[in-house]
Amino acid sequence: MKSNQTMRAVAIDEFGGIDKMKPRKLPVPEVAADEILVRVDTAGVGVWDPFEREGRFAKEFGIKANFPHVLGTDGAGTVEAVGGDVHNLKRGDRVYGINLMSPKGGFYAEYAVIKANNAATIPQALSTREAGVLAVDGVTALDGLDKTLKLKAGESVLILGASGGIGHLAVQLAKRMKARVLAVASGQDGVEFVKRMGADKVIDGHREDVLKAAREFAPGGLDAALLTTGGKAAKQAVEALREGGRAAYPNGVEDPPQARDGVKIMSYNGEPDPHTFAKLNELIEGGPFEVHIARTFKLENAAEAQQALNDHYLGKLALVLN
Ligand SMILES: NC(=O)c1ccc[n+]([C@@H]2O[C@H](COP(=O)([O-])OP(=O)(O)OC[C@H]3O[C@@H](n4cnc5c(N)ncnc54)[C@H](OP(=O)(O)O)[C@@H]3O)[C@@H](O)[C@H]2O)c1
Repeated sequence: MKSNQTMRAVAIDEFGGIDKMKPRKLPVPEVAADEILVRVDTAGVGVWDPFEREGRFAKEFGIKANFPHVLGTDGAGTVEAVGGDVHNLKRGDRVYGINLMSPKGGFYAEYAVIKANNAATIPQALSTREAGVLAVDGVTALDGLDKTLKLKAGESVLILGASGGIGHLAVQLAKRMKARVLAVASGQDGVEFVKRMGADKVIDGHREDVLKAAREFAPGGLDAALLTTGGKAAKQAVEALREGGRAAYPNGVEDPPQARDGVKIMSYNGEPDPHTFAKLNELIEGGPFEVHIARTFKLENAAEAQQALNDHYLGKLALVLN
């Protein structure tokens, strides 16, 4: 790649509403020793991307933004160049990864720079498109089930928001971890979708009684619950835990459940690192795995994509770069 080359991107000049998002021509970012340059094929559009745009991540993590800031926290593509200290990835590899408020910008662009430790090769079983929406939600699903809940084979787990981004991945990962899965999905279309993901039992959390379904599924109480949304259904999931049971929710979930005697409720963040990516890839390679993209948008329609985050949809939204 020649220096001074420009790329198409969607960036903001200041934090704010959707109207701040502008298609731009910007310089391709330069790679440091511990980084890779990726030609982006697909960028994830996460429910947290509006937080990035509004400046909430910058404030929370004490990061000073480098405007114009290219948006987008995860994505996938092909390695174009590697820094001098990177030995596990090479030019031409298909990779996916995470970039949160990097001063070099994110994935709403033709090229993105990622720390090599925040990236991994794409499992054979997945297309580059699917991998484009996998990184944040996949790592967060796995960290919830594995590091936080310490889910064991044979245990019962309720997954709330099972037709959403984290949820549909968590259902498949929990089945690979040999747990019994009660999935609480959104809408009849969500129920049909999550049955396909292999859950042992699926209910519609907007229409059915979560507590009743959980008591039928695990009469002695649930061992664990992964909550990707809050409110009444989350409260009922916690109520259905056995004595000594545990629940986890990623930070960002609104109206999370309150603590209850005899159960543990933990909030956590998905933390990308080579070990987690390796485990995620290994579980995904263990058989057919679906990363579901409900709708795709062109890069220049990124604002429309962020608007669509407010609609009901299954799985994920994505920007496609080619
Ligand atoms: N801290 C971290 O590291 C981290 C990382 C990733 C995500 N997060 C946070 O985790 C949360 C989930 O992320 P996500 O990407 O999975 O979002 P998502 O795709 O919006 O998933 C949430 C799902 O819950 C569904 N839902 C809401 N109420 C329900 C109910 N009563 N019964 C059944 N389903 C219900 C929603 O469907 P409807 O909209 O159709 O109701 C949606 O599909 C967000 O708050 C996000 O900010 C945190």
